[in-house]
Amino acid sequence: MAAFKYNTVNFIFSVSYLIFIFSAHSSKAELRRLQQPAKPDGTLSFLVVGDWGRRGSFNQSHVALQMGEIGEKLDIDFVISTGDNFYDNGLTGLHDPAFQDSFTSIYTAQSLQKPWYSVLGNHDYRGDVRAQLSPMLRALDKRWICMRSFVVDAEIVDFFFVDTTPFADKYFVQPNEHVYDWRGVLPRQTYLDNLLQDVDVALRESSANWKIVIGHHTIKSAGHHGNTIELEKQLLPILYANGVDLYVNGHDHCLEHISSADSKIQFMTSGGGSKAWKGDVNQLDPQELRFYYDGQGFMSVHISETELRVVFYDVSGHILHHWKTYKDELYFASY
Ligand SMILES: *[C@@H]1O[C@H](CO)[C@@H](O)[C@H](O)[C@H]1NC(C)=O
Repeated sequence: MAAFKYNTVNFIFSVSYLIFIFSAHSSKAELRRLQQPAKPDGTLSFLVVGDWGRRGSFNQSHVALQMGEIGEKLDIDFVISTGDNFYDNGLTGLHDPAFQDSFTSIYTAQSLQKPWYSVLGNHDYRGDVRAQLSPMLRALDKRWICMRSFVVDAEIVDFFFVDTTPFADKYFVQPNEHVYDWRGVLPRQTYLDNLLQDVDVALRESSANWKIVIGHHTIKSAGHHGNTIELEKQLLPILYANGVDLYVNGHDHCLEHISSADSKIQFMTSGGGSKAWKGDVNQLDPQELRFYYDGQGFMSVHISETELRVVFYDVSGHILHHWKTYKDELYFASY
């Protein structure tokens, strides 16, 4: 009798545990969350660079040098990489010298010895994707933090890093001569459905003052690649619905700022880490296209509880464009 009672209790416990696990996986497969402390005064500063790893060539070293200078001036807390970290074909494995030659030996300034939160670009998917995602790389350079999709909780701001390459049909339908490493992504539709749901849940649950979403691919761009229609259709409505402040990307090798007529969201491209000067800029509504620069450079962001400031710099560290927005109690009351 005692044994029966025990088994019944045990059974009920197991079933509820299974329901818990099942629901945790089906409706809320949470994104990995990392904690990034803000400064003691509550503010944060960081740099954003994209499309860079070319062993210093195409002005990569010059951009790196200026990042070091500006990084020191702003006393940055970390760096964000918007992907296409290693050209042309990602890393071949954990021992690919490109990691040293294009990252560790290039971004040597003291101010850049901070966490580098990185996403993958389409070029990174052409290599051994698991090598670039491996935490073992941190033994070679402890700054390197690269995951497919994750959240960085920095107190006043939450960052949502989204793996955008699997959204783009062309890499699957027309890979041409390129071989993409889709391990961990297939079946594709399940991967995308889960990812969109995870991003939506994470955004909805965020209580940070500011919400910034980072991906490699453009959502809106006047550059060579233009808009990414798959992201416009699938990701953008989630960003609109959750009051996202900035979408930050690379992919187009330029610097640009686009605002939106129907939302407060701003689209910032920082893809000028090395090769640039593509020379083909598309026409865009000048009301929306606030700034476009075809050449190399990077972006800085400074955030306090009530203010967010974005600055774009060229290869010599000259300011090309800046933009500011505010949130005050009035804003919170009416929002
Ligand atoms: C390096 O930057 C300078 C200044 O913007 C530019 O004139 C030059 O074309 C760049 N070099 C390359 C290879 O992009």
